[in-house]
Amino acid sequence: MLSVGDRGTVTASAHTPGAPLRLVQISDTHLSRWDGPLRRNFTKLANYVNEVLRPDLIVHTGDVILSNPDADADYRAAVELLGQLSAPVRYLPGNHDVGEAYDDTWWGTTSERLARFRKYFGETPWLEWFGGVGLIGLDSQLLGNGLPEEHEQWRRLEDLAETVGTKSVMFFQHTSFWTGAMGSDGRPGCLAERDRERLLDIFGQARLLGTGNGDVHRYRKVWHDTAFELWGPSTAFLVHREEAAKLPAGLEQLGVVLYEFEHENVAATFQTTPGLEEVEVGAFPESRRVREEIRAAIRDFEAAV
Ligand SMILES: [Fe+2]
Repeated sequence: MLSVGDRGTVTASAHTPGAPLRLVQISDTHLSRWDGPLRRNFTKLANYVNEVLRPDLIVHTGDVILSNPDADADYRAAVELLGQLSAPVRYLPGNHDVGEAYDDTWWGTTSERLARFRKYFGETPWLEWFGGVGLIGLDSQLLGNGLPEEHEQWRRLEDLAETVGTKSVMFFQHTSFWTGAMGSDGRPGCLAERDRERLLDIFGQARLLGTGNGDVHRYRKVWHDTAFELWGPSTAFLVHREEAAKLPAGLEQLGVVLYEFEHENVAATFQTTPGLEEVEVGAFPESRRVREEIRAAIRDFEAAV
């Protein structure tokens, strides 16, 4: 068995010689206190991950909770459901967990929302050694908002880059690294060029193997020179078919991603299990309930400003 050491390092000391290390990326679980297809889909996929994929590590690339970043009850429900996973899990926040770097809206990333996420799912950014590869988890929802937490993240990323040196790295974050995926709100849906260039510059000595993100609710793998950009699917629901038609080509399915690390090579495959309920955004009872909750929160926010 592999183990996660005191400093969060996955070691292969007792691993079958020659067998690849296995990492599963789950994303956009959108869990809540309300029963429905999203919770049922997660449980089916969690069983599949535990019993069939049997990873050494799981990375959750955000949108852990359904939709309202202020819903403590959803956070508590998500912690309980995610406890079904047998392997250790590293978390990153998505827009539905902590908001986005927008100005003066209810939907903005705030220190309070970041603190809530960190209380339940741990600090970011993080470094996890996986064999000889440094996995870097970063909070894409902080980039460009100017909060003290953003400056702290840049400082800590510089420290992590020094630790990694010239070794191989892979980045995980909620939003797409290179490819824009215009959302229904007309925003670009990938890292801003200045943030991407800054990150690549900070880790300029390292060898970037690839990046993994969630957010788009579809599986897609493309190459940028020698690094791959992999979009992980949602375990919960598909985007609306009219929005999906505007997105870059990808696999419109619920599932997870299995990465097999062998030395410096990474093989990634889409994985899923029978019996999932293939629902689109808005077409399940939980979304109607959370919409009411969000409408009320926006009314309170607007009355306060
Ligand atoms: Fe999502």
